[in-house]
Amino acid sequence: MPEQKLTYGIIGNPVKHSLSPVMHNTAFKALAVDAVYQLFPLEEDEVESFLKDVRKTSSPIFGLNVTVPYKEKVIPFLDALSPFAQKAMAVNTIVVEPDRHLIGHNTDGAGFLAHLAELQFDLKGKRIVVLGAGGTARSILTALCLLPQRPESIHLYNRTHQKAKGLVADLGKRMDVGMVAVEASIDDLNIELADLLINTTSVGLHSDDPCLVDDSLIHADMLVYDVIYRPALTPLLELAQARGAKTANGLGLLFYQGVLSFQHWSGMPLDAKIKQKMRRSLLTYA
Ligand code: ATR
Repeated sequence: MPEQKLTYGIIGNPVKHSLSPVMHNTAFKALAVDAVYQLFPLEEDEVESFLKDVRKTSSPIFGLNVTVPYKEKVIPFLDALSPFAQKAMAVNTIVVEPDRHLIGHNTDGAGFLAHLAELQFDLKGKRIVVLGAGGTARSILTALCLLPQRPESIHLYNRTHQKAKGLVADLGKRMDVGMVAVEASIDDLNIELADLLINTTSVGLHSDDPCLVDDSLIHADMLVYDVIYRPALTPLLELAQARGAKTANGLGLLFYQGVLSFQHWSGMPLDAKIKQKMRRSLLTYA
């Protein structure tokens, strides 16, 4: 039987719109590595058996990304977690060790911080507002709470208040969440006082989506960060630009988390030229 190609990929549901294959296959090509990155759409009841198969020595899979809705659900099926993934209790990257043990990492948090660093946004002493309390908010909040250069405050609002409270209570078991205040209403966020406004909700993915934020609250000294990257300009970012605020969409986060995942799989830093090609590939398809 011919040997199967070295395989990497992303598990989730849905995964068909993921840009990760474009980015990682670009890197494999540029590095002349004979490997392929594939989409693995899975139903919830398939996740355990899929990961069980990955453990087999016959499996061609050596690394995975994990996306919604399985970033927390994969954890019981892994052998160990990186310290950050353990704090966040969310995994977006799985490294298959030579002995076929599965190690869970989270590169979303570090990817977000890397993008902010690129934007030259220093978080120390800053007032931050976060919208949403899903998986992306979990990783971003973990990164912000663990940062040695502590922000001044984080005000969090989610449509489902209990979910936001539950998220912060859960993170609080493993880190200091003293700077995080969960607000019951969007009006209590004091958005006008924020230095950084982060949208982690899915509002903005569709062209007819509303903007969750009243435009009079956005000011020119604010960075407005939307984790959505398609469309590149969500109603929130459009409004923020009109108000003179600095804006960023989630393509930078997608890029940096991907670079960090790749480096976990290969165990080596990626060359700047390869990273540039990966980023260009994202810009072409986004
Ligand atoms: P992700 O992993 O990308 O964060 P998720 O875990 O499904 O995705 O979270 C989606 C987030 O978008 C949640 O905070 C969700 O709010 P609820 O917890 O109330 O569901 C938020 N969201 C989705 N649709 C929304 C809407 N129409 N208005 C406000 N928030 C919305």
